[in-house]
Amino acid sequence: MSIEQLAETALAMVAPGKGIIAIDESNATCKKRFDGVGIECTEETRRAYRELLLTAPKLGDYISGAILFDETIRQSTKDGVPFTKVMMDNGILPGIKVDKGTFPLAGFPGEVVTEGLDGLRARLEEYYKLGARFAKWRAVINISDETPSGTCIDANTHALARYAALCQEQGLVPMVEPEVIMDGSHDLDTCYDVTEVTLRSLFASLHEHNVMLEGTILKASMVISGTTSAEQASVEEVAAATLHCLKATVPATLPGIVFLSGGQSDLAATSHLNAMNQMGPKPWPLSFSYGRAMQQAALKLWAQDMVGNYAAAQQTVYERARDNGLAALGEWKA
Ligand code: 13P
Repeated sequence: MSIEQLAETALAMVAPGKGIIAIDESNATCKKRFDGVGIECTEETRRAYRELLLTAPKLGDYISGAILFDETIRQSTKDGVPFTKVMMDNGILPGIKVDKGTFPLAGFPGEVVTEGLDGLRARLEEYYKLGARFAKWRAVINISDETPSGTCIDANTHALARYAALCQEQGLVPMVEPEVIMDGSHDLDTCYDVTEVTLRSLFASLHEHNVMLEGTILKASMVISGTTSAEQASVEEVAAATLHCLKATVPATLPGIVFLSGGQSDLAATSHLNAMNQMGPKPWPLSFSYGRAMQQAALKLWAQDMVGNYAAAQQTVYERARDNGLAALGEWKA
């Protein structure tokens, strides 16, 4: 795979006014979301729900790619059309979550490291054959009075770099995701500092591992007040701090940055993205790769009446895509 082909895929992922829908919940996470709205979590309900999302009419107008879970990339619509074919027919690039989740980092209480490197080369080879063109790996950085340690950050960014290099070798664009978690009572400045040091470590590791930035996408968390902080930063403050932090740490050769929603409300996730895109020149497109902030309203509707609300749930996910697509251009209006 040439760097030109990887770069072409990466640019398509952040095409103007388009973003990514993350529907790569592991079965355990999917069960958590389904439990929250009273849906039984079985292979068939997961398949039916992902079909609802992926076949929402005109989704491709605002969605460039979707991140799938291992089970989902092998599934088909009830009429037997593989999900990957439905996606490609609608101009939506198939992506795949390839990490195996987080595990406690030995010796560092309260900190985790993402696993999944063993056997990754062979898994990536298979995913490419199944139609995947990009792959996601999520690292988790927790903020508390004692964390994060430099060791935790470096262990996670080293794994991200090794996964990213393997992706490029196998023809997949790596979507590198170092998520600084919102939970905690920390303030905006603390989140800024942790995000800055994490991104510095990430780009140093990517460089050390010969990862080509032209064929890489960053999935970033926003610089935001901790969820239980007494002082909640405004939309403008979050947007300005996030943009400043990214400009200070992310090379301009990167084709684009997409954000996770991380537990923000739909409104907050869209408002923050829109505000950043209204803040003047920046070296890369800023778009979205939301999971919850794309899906939660649609899931709730579907749970209330799986047959009667089917079309309304699809319309809802389309509207979330449209609003976030407009926010990726700074053209969204509340
Ligand atoms: P959220 O937008 O719900 O945080 O999910 C995005 C994601 O893919 C996390 O890895």
